[in-house]
Amino acid sequence: MAQKKKEAARVVGQRQLAPGIFDLVLRTELAGQACCGQFVAVYPKDRSTLLPRPISICEADGAAGTLRLVYRVAGSGTAEFSGLREGDSVDILGILGNGFPVQKALPGMTALLLGGGIGVPPILQLAKETGCAKKIVVGYRDAHCFLKEDFESALQGHDGEAGKGSGVYVATEDGSTGTKGNVMDAIAANGLKADIVYACGPMPMLRAVKQYAQQENIPAYISLEERMACGVGACLGCVCKTKEPHHHTHVRNARICTDGPVFEAQEVDI
Ligand SMILES: Cc1cc2nc3c(=O)[nH]c(=O)nc-3n(C[C@H](O)[C@H](O)[C@H](O)COP(=O)(O)OP(=O)(O)OC[C@H]3O[C@@H](n4cnc5c(N)ncnc54)[C@H](O)[C@@H]3O)c2cc1C
Ligand code: FES
Repeated sequence: MAQKKKEAARVVGQRQLAPGIFDLVLRTELAGQACCGQFVAVYPKDRSTLLPRPISICEADGAAGTLRLVYRVAGSGTAEFSGLREGDSVDILGILGNGFPVQKALPGMTALLLGGGIGVPPILQLAKETGCAKKIVVGYRDAHCFLKEDFESALQGHDGEAGKGSGVYVATEDGSTGTKGNVMDAIAANGLKADIVYACGPMPMLRAVKQYAQQENIPAYISLEERMACGVGACLGCVCKTKEPHHHTHVRNARICTDGPVFEAQEVDI
């Protein structure tokens, strides 16, 4: 496994995608090591905020040496990040977390890739890395469907099996775009079927995904973007209960920051 490294990344650019949603591109040596579902910890300069903020990798371009992070302003740390401009420097620690097991989506399968709210960004890199046919279902509050065009272009970039039978489906809570409701409503409304599920989103959505996967008897890999503190396995501020004892500690607990954030849905108590 690649060594975690703290590095001063250079801001290539930042733009606003929707109210309170920002799209930050960083130049960093860490870009070449990143896989879908992994994250970096971004350090605010304001020392009163202390801990770094975990943000998922939305896109990684190893050749260009860039990472794209898409985030919602939630509090002081992310508010500070929204002021970053081209040429600024920001400290990041990475690459963190296990990432989505894309190798489980075998040729001939159909994968459901589900993103809800601020869980949508990591689904973009996942869409680029999954080699089989995929149904991408993304859910938003309203018509600010950020990254929707990026998903459509990601599918156009796939030819052969990965492109055939693939599609992007949208759900909005207010019904302004796509299916009215959440990603589960969009799956039902479009009659989508799959052999494997990958998901990132709020906890109620992940619980519904877990139940759906159990009913359909298919594996589901969910990213638990819970609140974190140290981000490197030292503080136990992020543990979740697991079905099986941990291979190292032998207790039925896992640290989301190091053992996750991605888990097989039936393996965790959520
Ligand atoms: C592995 C991982 C990946 C993440 N990826 C992304 C991402 O790609 N884009 C993005 O916008 N956010 C992401 N988050 C959430 C992001 O880390 C938090 O929103 C951020 O740390 C908030 O920092 P802040 O200083 O702005 O807000 P704070 O002042 O720390 O908190 C402001 C409010 O946000 C709530 N909050 C803080 N962290 C979380 C969290 N993890 N989940 C839910 N509510 C939270 C707090 O309870 C509080 O109400 C991710 C979190 C994890 C653990
Ligand atoms: S955040 Fe400290 S152990 Fe996970």
